[in-house]
Amino acid sequence: MASKGSQATEAAKAAKAAKAVKTPKAGKADKTTGQSDFVVVANRLPVDQERLPDGTTTWKRSPGGLVTALEPLLRRRRGAWVGWPGVIDGDEEPIVQEELTLQPVRLSADDVAQYYEGFSNATLWPLYHDVIVKPIYHREWWDRYVDVNRRFAEATSRAAAKGAVVWVQDYQLQLVPKMLRSLRPDLTIGFFLHIPFPPIELFMQLPWRTEIIDGLLGADLVGFHLAGGAQNFLFLSRRLTGAETSRGAVGVRSRFGEVQLENRTVRVGAFPISIDSGALDQTARDRKIRRRAREIREELGNPRKVMLGVDRLDYTKGIDVRLKALSELLAEGRVKRDDTVLIQLATPSRERVESYQLLRHDIEREVGHINGEYAEVGHPVVHYLHRPVPRDELIAFFVAADVALVTPLRDGMNLVAKEYVACRSDLGGALVLSEFTGAAAELRQAYLVNPHDLEGVKDAIEAALNQSPEEGRRRMRALRRQVLAHDVDRWARSFLDVLSEARPTDRPKD
Ligand code: ADP
Ligand code: F6P
Repeated sequence: MASKGSQATEAAKAAKAAKAVKTPKAGKADKTTGQSDFVVVANRLPVDQERLPDGTTTWKRSPGGLVTALEPLLRRRRGAWVGWPGVIDGDEEPIVQEELTLQPVRLSADDVAQYYEGFSNATLWPLYHDVIVKPIYHREWWDRYVDVNRRFAEATSRAAAKGAVVWVQDYQLQLVPKMLRSLRPDLTIGFFLHIPFPPIELFMQLPWRTEIIDGLLGADLVGFHLAGGAQNFLFLSRRLTGAETSRGAVGVRSRFGEVQLENRTVRVGAFPISIDSGALDQTARDRKIRRRAREIREELGNPRKVMLGVDRLDYTKGIDVRLKALSELLAEGRVKRDDTVLIQLATPSRERVESYQLLRHDIEREVGHINGEYAEVGHPVVHYLHRPVPRDELIAFFVAADVALVTPLRDGMNLVAKEYVACRSDLGGALVLSEFTGAAAELRQAYLVNPHDLEGVKDAIEAALNQSPEEGRRRMRALRRQVLAHDVDRWARSFLDVLSEARPTDRPKD
């Protein structure tokens, strides 16, 4: 268990930090207890509100893997979803759909600039992704993060029925578990982090490190994709709060860690997220999708090989790595300009954050460079679409592609890798996958690459492009076994089953 001496000062700091992050007043929620027995709280709602030029509003699916994973699940459970509708000063009226209640949280222009673009995406995001770009530490951003987290906690408190289960999602809302517990001690609270939890040396940079750990410890269960993240969290809890913690190795969906607080125990575990693999498998078998996949290849001029990248336009995704590798393979004549194409689909993301603007500039310059050097009129080598594509169209792209390139420098999981595999019931295709994704821990039969080793990436792309049909089938069969057996339902069930074991003695009697 934790050695006391060295932790006394950190524990004192923790107490101070706990006071500094003011939690909302307990009891306030009694008057406003809501209807929902199961509530998901995430920065974004599953749909973004969009204001049209004529003043009317419409809704479109929000970007990212979190929504992909949780939306089908929540519809089945008929719960409530608390989140930001993606526009400035949006409406806070609940939207009641048949199976799902959406509870919007309003964010002002300053909230978006300081809480979302600032602290969430220019401080935490780069810090948690191996400082690929330098995290920026601004005190005003932190203050706003605290303030917005408090409003999410209050909105959740209003939505949750007595004794409800609340599942808080991701790095934007790490203070919510503690704030919510103080408002509503009757709730069972889970927290899941969708991005990597960084190594101790990096996390310790954060000026508000103790407050973040303290906020997460408000949950009954804290979940990560990988056992390594859970271990890091246990270590930091011990170091920064002085709490007693378990010391044994955490397993995957097993051997959970524990943090012993004064009056309750927080469990800590690894639960690798997944996709609705069965549904995707079915859709990808559809005649219309297969016809569209053939059409896509025809529209490309029936090249021998089609490679595909599908990402949010984010510097963590290693889009630059795959473009550089392709450029060198073309220059060396190892990939032929007239028989191979790359389709890069890139969803616009966090466009007002400077590091994202620089990335877009670099990617578009490299695409221009490759096409400038190797394309013919009417036959680009790289087809670059800076927009989200509709779901069925995306599935057709997956079916059409001979090689999927997933080359992040760091990624919590990467659902695109699993989606590609789920779409290949024909056992065709090949997956080139970065070792620095959570998915690499499960998808061992992919062509695994270190994205920092450009020669290694080039070799893997070349091998994937030229694999024999038997080798391809052998790999894809094994990959599909993994993805189809471990779907998003299993992920959610495994997390929620452990959460439901949160000890009743920890709950107030009434
Ligand atoms: P992240 O959560 O960091 O965005 P993931 O790979 O885990 O990364 O999830 C991304 C999700 O967004 C996947 O479901 C993927 O299919 C979807 N997606 C990414 N780019 C596009 C695009 N251009 N068009 C449509 N969907 C996309
Ligand atoms: O999975 C990581 C994540 O940040 C999610 O929390 C989020 O929904 C998704 O990526 C997309 O990012 P954003 O909400 O910033 O557009």
